[in-house]
Amino acid sequence: MKVLVVGSGGREHALVWKLRQSPRVKKIFCAPGNAGIAHQASCVPIGAEDIDGLLHFARREKIDLTIVGPEAPLTGGIVDAFNRAGLNIFGPAKRAAGIEGSKAWAKELMAKYNIPTADYVIFDRPERAKDYVLSRGAPVVVKADGLAAGKGVKVCSTREEALLAISEIMEKKVFGRAGERVVIEEFLTGEEVSILAFTDGQAVLPMLAAQDHKQVYDHDQGPNTGGMGAYAPAPVCTPRIYEEALHKILLPAVRGLANEGCPYRGVLYAGLMVTEQGPKVLEFNARFGDPEAQPLLMLFQTDLVEICEAVLTGTLAGQSIRWADGAAVCVVLASGGYPGPYAKGRVIRGLDQVSDDIVIFHAGTALVDGQVVTAGGRVLGVTAVAKNIPEAIARAYEGVRNISFEGMHYRRDIGQKALKYLPPGE
Ligand SMILES: Nc1ncnc2c1ncn2[C@@H]1O[C@H](COP(=O)(O)OP(=O)(O)O)[C@@H](O)[C@H]1O
Ligand SMILES: [Mg+2]
Repeated sequence: MKVLVVGSGGREHALVWKLRQSPRVKKIFCAPGNAGIAHQASCVPIGAEDIDGLLHFARREKIDLTIVGPEAPLTGGIVDAFNRAGLNIFGPAKRAAGIEGSKAWAKELMAKYNIPTADYVIFDRPERAKDYVLSRGAPVVVKADGLAAGKGVKVCSTREEALLAISEIMEKKVFGRAGERVVIEEFLTGEEVSILAFTDGQAVLPMLAAQDHKQVYDHDQGPNTGGMGAYAPAPVCTPRIYEEALHKILLPAVRGLANEGCPYRGVLYAGLMVTEQGPKVLEFNARFGDPEAQPLLMLFQTDLVEICEAVLTGTLAGQSIRWADGAAVCVVLASGGYPGPYAKGRVIRGLDQVSDDIVIFHAGTALVDGQVVTAGGRVLGVTAVAKNIPEAIARAYEGVRNISFEGMHYRRDIGQKALKYLPPGE
């Protein structure tokens, strides 16, 4: 079959890498892709948000299956458009993708279906939001309602910070229409974990628990990023917490969405805080996480096409995923300045893949005059598999050692939070 992957980041590289292993896949296209993806798929210069362009291409090439990486085309209705044209596409339809596209709507859904999450209030007027913050106090979390590329949430330790966040989002409109409403919510403490699950609208097939590293600097310091690294399985998610997340969060969310008339098909990502009262939802995403997809797909032993087809045909019940033993760790190498402004076009050295247990997934890279150069904030995701987390950490950082570009920075502590849960000797 011919497959089209939509997107250009590390997640999409991991999807392409995994799809190449499927005996069913004869040809892979990626739109628009990056310099690493170009070695493994035919890259086509169509933007991930150009729904008409993608549809036209998929029709012309008779694509059998399209897999959507990023959120924007999903909330923009790419799945609805492809379905209307009779094309197979993996991902939720526009309304269901609203679980990521509107944090306010997601909160209302969680309230209606009793899904544990932080207490919250939704505001559409800045004065009201500010009055609420003044009376309620801090710490508090202010969230722009709509998509904001991972920058729309401010965890505020003082009232002043919260007032500023409201002003930026609702008055200065730094995220445009995404800031027409805000969700102000209770600050939760605990460790974060991501559980991603395949669902066909009824059955839920969860993947291993994974952990992202949102802040730019070691020990979770500095501003949030798209994610500086991830690993799986995440031992903070004990079997009990995993079961609780499945039965109190993922299954009710999937049933709730179906009950609202918008059954969810695709990967549903639950970003959770493991609190003393159990797991609570921070947010849902409508797709694979980036960088969680990189370690998860490296451990994924089942044919991804089979699972995607089961999702599309409503036959996911009874399917299972085989996982490699051990663990996988992904370390993101970022451009100098990221998550703030950064330069592009820096030549990247040391990209030759040296061994089978380490894969260098490309994110923001481009090929210019025969050289691979930086082209984004997150540039590469060096991902290693080993028999346990400590060894996977060591292998990933060994992989990092060979690579360099001007301004390159990365966290040195990816995976460290897992170590306290491991039995002595691991
Ligand atoms: N209620 C909360 N309590 C504590 N921290 C939170 C809360 N909500 C979000 N955060 C922090 O902010 C980050 C981003 O929030 P999230 O809702 O996942 O939005 P997005 O990923 O769209 O930016 C989370 O990963 C978490 O670290
Ligand atoms: Mg998030």
